[in-house]
Amino acid sequence: MISAEVYKIVHLVGVMMVFLSLGGVATNAINGGLKNHLWRKPIAITHGLGLVLSLVGGFGLLARLGIVQGGLPGWVWVKLGIWIMFAILIGVVSRKPGWARSIWPLIIILGAMAAYLAGSKPF
Ligand code: HEM
Repeated sequence: MISAEVYKIVHLVGVMMVFLSLGGVATNAINGGLKNHLWRKPIAITHGLGLVLSLVGGFGLLARLGIVQGGLPGWVWVKLGIWIMFAILIGVVSRKPGWARSIWPLIIILGAMAAYLAGSKPF
């Protein structure tokens, strides 16, 4: 049986991979880099794998911590919304490189919201 500690590491490593890849894509966009740059595939893999790991780790944690009881609490739905935003943002940055500067702080704010929701479970 996979423990909550292991799921937490999986969750957080996944989150780190998502942030790393979004930072890479945003930096490339801000510098006027090519859409089809040399590191495109590794970034896409890091992003995709990070999304999967953060989701698997998140649901593993929900199960191990006994948080799912008849339905998901509101804070988990909001975190799922944030997860979807992270999934979409990579495409937005590469299609609209001019938005990358504004998306940069948005990514930090979304990450802070997700961390706050996990810690305080306000609803
Ligand atoms: C991709 C956006 C997300 C970010 C940035 C994020 C970030 C975090 C952080 C920083 C923690 C705190 C870890 C700790 O207590 O040491 C955490 C815990 C947790 N997250 Fe996420 N998370 C995200 C998405 C999700 C999703 C989609 C789910 C549910 C499917 C989820 C479920 C959880 C659970 C259950 C915990 C543990 C809460 C507890 O310890 O009581 N997270 N997350």
